[in-house]
Amino acid sequence: MTLSKAIVMSRLDRPFKYYDSIGSTNDVAKAWLETGAPDRAAVVANAQTRGRGRKGRAWQMPPDVALALSVLLRPPTRLVPEVAFLGALAVYDLAAEAGCSMIGIKWPNDVQVQGKKIAGILPEVVWKGPEAQGVVLGIGLNVRTDFSGTELANYATSLESIVNRRLDRADLLGSLLRHVDYWYSQIGEETLFTSWKSRLNMLGKRIEVQDEVGTATDVLQDGSLLLRDDFGVQQIVQAGDVFVVNGRGAGA
Ligand code: BTN
Repeated sequence: MTLSKAIVMSRLDRPFKYYDSIGSTNDVAKAWLETGAPDRAAVVANAQTRGRGRKGRAWQMPPDVALALSVLLRPPTRLVPEVAFLGALAVYDLAAEAGCSMIGIKWPNDVQVQGKKIAGILPEVVWKGPEAQGVVLGIGLNVRTDFSGTELANYATSLESIVNRRLDRADLLGSLLRHVDYWYSQIGEETLFTSWKSRLNMLGKRIEVQDEVGTATDVLQDGSLLLRDDFGVQQIVQAGDVFVVNGRGAGA
């Protein structure tokens, strides 16, 4: 079933904007944030024509197969890095609720099931001088996206193909926002960081990131990854794509 404004309205307890098709929900959300959107407002689309992912990548989203959501949050500036944690945790909980097992967060915030990505998170901060006006938490969830026959099938999957039954995207949307609300209520609490950290699936493993190879030893409160290289030197990695090397692991 296609999403519609009426269906979305029946599931959402907050101001929202709905689009059958839009360039990027994050772009709409950023503009709305600047013009005074309230905390927890949401932008939802049934399709995205210019969706964006991390590192400037495209995030394709044809109609009816996925969820594209941007939640507008207004945490204190010092807590802005935690928004990415809460987005990944909310998707993790949703996947668990839908019946998935072997769920993990691949640093920094991809949610994987059985080693393949089901969702991506794109938090974008809107600054006003040194202060954050707010954060747009973009979430793209593959519900029934068909990756078969494409190279992406090696790395990505969708919720329905994991749980092997039809899911209602409007229900998923309502549940996802409930999980976002819960984890947002924990922002600034130790449990948010420790929960994110404990669900990461590459700590202790040998990885490659940003052309460096070593062991992923820990993460810091700002979300950075600590990598111990083969000379025993500790590196702090702020962004990048992680690949597990030499054996089992998180996958791409
Ligand atoms: C990633 O690269 O893994 C992050 C993908 C984030 C995609 C979502 S879909 C909703 C929101 N709007 C966008 O343009 N991007 C995010």
